[in-house]
Amino acid sequence: MNPYIAAAVAEMDKVSVSRFEHPGSWAMDPTSCRFLAAFTRALGAKRVLEFGSGFSTLMMAREIATQEGNYLLSVDDSAKYTGLAREAFETSECPAKVEFRTAPLKLKLYGPRLLLGYTLPKGLLEALGPFDLVLIDAPHHDYGRESVFYDAFAAVAPGGYLVLDDANRADMEKEYVRAWLDSYGDAIDPIMLEGIGNGLCVIEKVDDCEPRYSRRGLLKTALKTARNYSRYLSRQEE
Ligand SMILES: C[S@@+](CC[C@H](N)C(=O)[O-])C[C@H]1O[C@@H](n2cnc3c(N)ncnc32)[C@H](O)[C@@H]1O
Repeated sequence: MNPYIAAAVAEMDKVSVSRFEHPGSWAMDPTSCRFLAAFTRALGAKRVLEFGSGFSTLMMAREIATQEGNYLLSVDDSAKYTGLAREAFETSECPAKVEFRTAPLKLKLYGPRLLLGYTLPKGLLEALGPFDLVLIDAPHHDYGRESVFYDAFAAVAPGGYLVLDDANRADMEKEYVRAWLDSYGDAIDPIMLEGIGNGLCVIEKVDDCEPRYSRRGLLKTALKTARNYSRYLSRQEE
């Protein structure tokens, strides 16, 4: 087994997730939070990138706080939830360096794939990286986590990791992992942890590589993206 995953699995039960702090069902499952914290520690991660601000921000920030030069960039599409996550982090008095950023979603083309993606300035993630660890736990529901991997990949150090939450969902995360494997081939090594929370997929970035975007399910993907964009626009800041 991958040594970092093995170390995290061995240590995760020692990580405490307070019932008083954990905000509820919209946040990452408590067992997944335990694994995430233990995995961050096992990696000795210093620089972390996160999509989906909230409780997971605090779990990872606490792990990197003792590392010199630590930095966590947390991105969310919602100004409201960015604000709440920032407030919760500041209240915690965790000394890690954490920056929050709101980046709304828009339609974007990744090769032939029409997806929803975050509006981040080109080159920003690469300029702030390289990151040792990326958590993909947003955007919300079915708005499209596939694009996040394409945006983040170049900003991850070879030997770094990306962790995808809710990885057991058949028509969503499992499909995204297939598309990533088509696009990056041997440059990535995904490991499924189906028994942790709602499933986690831990993906090692083995090497740098330009994606050869998958042509798998192009029409279905485009139609789903169009539907989700309309839902996204109508739910704005519910
Ligand atoms: C699956 S949640 C996970 C957020 C974060 N990774 C965590 O573990 O707390 C994904 C999205 O939910 C939204 N969100 C954050 N706080 C929320 C709340 N209190 N109620 C509903 N949605 C929320 C955010 O926009 C976030 O991107």
